[in-house]
Order: sequence, then C-alpha cells, then structure tokens
Amino acid sequence: MTSVALNEVVRKSKGQLFHRQDDIYVLVGESLDVDLFNQEFIDLIVTSPPYNVGLDYNSTNDKITYEEYLQFSEQWMRNCYRWSRPSARFCLNIPLDKNKGGQTSVGADLTTIAQKVGWKYHATIIWNEGNISRRTAWGSWMSASAPYVIAPVELIVVLYKDEWKKKHGSRQSDINRDEFLEWTNGLWTFSGESKKKIGHPAPFPRELPRRCIKLFSFVGDVVFDPFLGSGTTLIEALALKRKGVGVEIDIKYAEIAKQRLLKEITLFNQPSPTMSSG
Ligand SMILES: C[S@@+](CC[C@H](N)C(=O)[O-])C[C@H]1O[C@@H](n2cnc3c(N)ncnc32)[C@H](O)[C@@H]1O
Repeated sequence: MTSVALNEVVRKSKGQLFHRQDDIYVLVGESLDVDLFNQEFIDLIVTSPPYNVGLDYNSTNDKITYEEYLQFSEQWMRNCYRWSRPSARFCLNIPLDKNKGGQTSVGADLTTIAQKVGWKYHATIIWNEGNISRRTAWGSWMSASAPYVIAPVELIVVLYKDEWKKKHGSRQSDINRDEFLEWTNGLWTFSGESKKKIGHPAPFPRELPRRCIKLFSFVGDVVFDPFLGSGTTLIEALALKRKGVGVEIDIKYAEIAKQRLLKEITLFNQPSPTMSSG
C-alpha cells in the first residue's frame, strides 16, 4: 500500500490522529468500534490485548467477567479481520492460561474465537520469558491435595486471513540466515520488558514485534497494533522500514508511544562514531 493511500486510510478513520512520523501513525481510538476504519489496509498485526488480570490501566477495566472478556476478544478480532488485506497475518500474544481467580484456558479459548471470526490457524510460538517470580503459588505444598502448575511462558498464536503464501508487497525480506533458523523454531526465549522503565503496566519487549515483523512481513508492509500501549510495535515497524498504524484508547499511553518514537528517530539519525584522524 502506498504511503498516500495509508494516509487516506488514517484520514478517513474515526480515530484521532495523535502523532505521525513518516509512515507511522499513532491514533487515539477504540478498537472495539467496527467503523474505526472503513477499508482493508493491514498486512501484519502484532498485538498483545489486555489479559483481564486486573491491571491498573488508566481508561479501561481489566477485571471483567470471563464471559465478557471472551465477547470483547471476539469483537476486536472480528474488526481486525475486517480491516485486514487478504494475505494478512496476525501474531497474537496472549497467556497460555490464567491461574488467579479460577483456572481458565485463555490461550485455547482465544485461538478458537479467532478461528470463529474467520482467521485461519498457522502455528503457535511459545515465548519463554523465564519469569519465575510466579513460581510461588504452588497451592498445596508438597501434597497432591490441590497443587498448582504455573507455566512461565506466553503464546504467540500465528494466524492469517485468506492464504498463507504472500503474493503482494515489495517481496523484500530483511531476515538473515541465523535469525531465520532460530526464529522458525517455535520456542522463543527472551526476557520481558520493565514496566517501570517504560511507564506502562504491560509493555512487551521490542524483541517480540521485531521477530514477528522480520519473519512475517516484507519491507514496506503495513503493520497494525489495535492495543498500542507504549508503542513497541510501531517503534520496531519504524526501525525495520515498515509502515505502521497503532490504536490506543488512553491518551497518556499514546503520549508515551509518541515520545518513544521520537527518541527512536533521534537515535536513528545520530551519526555513527568515526575514528579520529589525528
Ligand atoms: C497489554 S497492553 C499493550 C502493551 C503494548 N504491547 C506495549 O508494548 O506497550 C494493552 C493496551 O490496550 C489498551 N486498550 C484497552 N482497551 C482498548 C480498546 N478497546 N481500544 C484501544 N486500546 C485499548 C490499554 O490502554 C493498554 O495500553
């Protein structure tokens, strides 16, 4: 999609354009609104929705009933399907399951809902974030009475719209041999991101969208994140010469995303250190 056309998609959007940097757009808006966009423009979605674990987001309630959460999930995934081009891919970062306040199979349930609204299943990547701090809720200690099993991993479910093989776009890939060999193995190991450093309750690390973007999109493709948060997906889209649109409901988080994008471009434009000729 040309930059003029993406500009038009954004101009016609019901979201409020909060920040633009080259072909990267931060919108303040509501991803549950089916009329947020009125055309297909997405090549790749990389996102981590709210997990409904009671986080203190500014503008939304992260503690609704599981039934409501499944309805919320169905609505935004349906919208994303509608806004996606036929060869679009969808990388969905979600928990494997939930252990607090009753056990729920979140990963399986959301994967089923994604398929119900039309997405086709491709693969699941296990992200081993090595977070062993959760390993204190054993339930009944050293007893078979009611032990709890807690996995220090999350999922990245990979789906697509109509067909897996990409036939459109620049056809230019920027992944190297070692990255390709390592990342096509469905166990990814890297650490999570610091909430304190970023100033957001649940940022994912840059490595997550970086791998998804390089593995699943061509240079110049349009990357979309319906839950932009602190802007991580768009920062990587910018760094990797993709176009990007992100939607965030909360203006304070949109501002964090804007500041991170501005910082990224400053780093980008800094001259590389040269040897002194003295
Ligand atoms: C898990 S966080 C995303 C974090 C992001 N991946 C990052 O690296 O910062 C989910 C975000 O979705 C936003 N959000 C929740 N409901 C929304 C909605 N209906 N539309 C748009 N954004 C929403 C929240 O404000 C929150 O910032």
